[in-house]
Amino acid sequence: MRLLKTGAFVRAAQAAKFSVPSCSRIPISSPVTVPSRWASSQAQAQASPDEQPFPEQSVNLVNEVDPAKTAAASSQSGDHARFEKKLQELDLGNEIIRENGQSGAKILGAPYIFDQTSNLSSSILDLVGRNLYDHPDHPICITRKLIESCFEEPTYKHFAMGNPVVTVRDNFDVLGFPADHPGRSRTDTYYVNSTHLLRTHTSAHQNAAFQWLANNPSSKGYTICADVYRRDSIDRSHFPVFHQMEGARVWEAQRNRAAQIERNCEEMPKTGLVVEDQATDFTGTANPLQPEHNPDEVYQVARHLKLSLEYLVSRIFEASRQSLPSAARTDAPMQARWIEAYFPFTSPSFELEVLWHGGEWLELLGCGVVKQGILNKAGLNDHISWAWGVGIERFAMLLFGIPDIRLFWSTDPRFLKQFTRGKITKFEPFSKYPACYKDIAFWIKPVPSASSPLGSQSAHTTSGVAAAAGGDATKASPAETQPAAFHENDIMEVVRDVAGSLVEDVKLVDEFVHPTTGRKSLCYRINYRSLERTLTNEEVNGLHEEVGRRMKDLFGVELR
Ligand code: PHE
Repeated sequence: MRLLKTGAFVRAAQAAKFSVPSCSRIPISSPVTVPSRWASSQAQAQASPDEQPFPEQSVNLVNEVDPAKTAAASSQSGDHARFEKKLQELDLGNEIIRENGQSGAKILGAPYIFDQTSNLSSSILDLVGRNLYDHPDHPICITRKLIESCFEEPTYKHFAMGNPVVTVRDNFDVLGFPADHPGRSRTDTYYVNSTHLLRTHTSAHQNAAFQWLANNPSSKGYTICADVYRRDSIDRSHFPVFHQMEGARVWEAQRNRAAQIERNCEEMPKTGLVVEDQATDFTGTANPLQPEHNPDEVYQVARHLKLSLEYLVSRIFEASRQSLPSAARTDAPMQARWIEAYFPFTSPSFELEVLWHGGEWLELLGCGVVKQGILNKAGLNDHISWAWGVGIERFAMLLFGIPDIRLFWSTDPRFLKQFTRGKITKFEPFSKYPACYKDIAFWIKPVPSASSPLGSQSAHTTSGVAAAAGGDATKASPAETQPAAFHENDIMEVVRDVAGSLVEDVKLVDEFVHPTTGRKSLCYRINYRSLERTLTNEEVNGLHEEVGRRMKDLFGVELR
């Protein structure tokens, strides 16, 4: 289910073009060689004694599913049981294991047996468990703390969710994603198997978090921070793993609730933002009120939501302004605008766009009034709630002036040493190594009505995946849920697996249909560049040939 909205497409296209202004092009990082234990030991070493343990350690927000039991239930064969036992006994980091035609993975200590839906790669598993948001001096954690500080305890409880393996149910079903929603497709999502996946958004924990609120009525809201995973294009603002934060605020049933929410609105700090609101009408079919809701209450909930997020954005903007040298600071207020949006789990829904330091309009976040069925299912009958989701990298890139998303995964001290907890400082590019681009051209296997990777981008549609929250709203199209000859994310995944972060971006540069045979040829340009060193010609040639080989073997393309 997707809406046809030209405006949404234009905005999404703008967002996809997002790059941070005023920063020179710099090389990328190569994060995947770091031992997976690095994250936790480093965090412990750096954490100050008064650092609070993350709530996750004391509060379990995951709907517990025992993967071993699930795997065992789905297989009667003794062979499978033996393989599963072997997986359990291995003392590995995250790893894919293949043996006698069976395959599976160990992810953060838990074994999973693959099935026909699995599409994990070892390069993606190497990034699981790094928990960048737990390192007090990492820009992701500094940004997280800044966002949390806008939603104060005890009204809001702050959570971080370490394990990214969630059920398909929690990530999609419970949130009302229709069966044919493009976000569910294997080209967009990393499936562990047909029941489990690497969460694609923090909303995967919404149901559990609302249940937690139902049992802890002294809290009225929460934030959740987590790493999320999406098969996506390769460029300077997209990486298959990124970080999101989600927040929600509930009000229980009470007499004259609209007046209560209005009072809460009056208590919100005032901001200097100049805001235009293009999303105030909830009476039509485009962005409707839910039938079970009282309109007065919804208007106040939407107002409280918008004020809360305007406050967040103004705090981020102010922190960024303060980190500029005084000569570069202007007193011009930031401009923001609210526009209508669509998410399967909220209605009405909104997106917030800002003019950042006079640049272009930038989509920052998605939000809305939570669907009543979701609250009821979690035991919050008669409550009303708003929720929002933001991509932390997008904020952090703006705040710190970080021009390439891969830098967040860098372990180079020249990157890490630049940041200190509680402080916003502008990133100083430390080196620039040469880029080396190579083209790969191939005929795709003929399949009737094969969708074009370009065609999907020109569809005037929106998927309920906020580009602001880190997705690429231009990517998904209904055609992607059908088997297609070739999907652009397939080549992205092959490149990622072969070359990791040694690739800065991959772009389609030519598309051509043979006039007589009707066969389609595509040409992609792969831009190789390392953050840490100059790549040799031999090395790049070797990587590029391997990309070609895998494209041939895995997708049956004919190289030209
Ligand atoms: N989960 C949404 C996304 O990833 C963002 C969102 C969260 C929207 C909560 C509305 C409410 O795009």
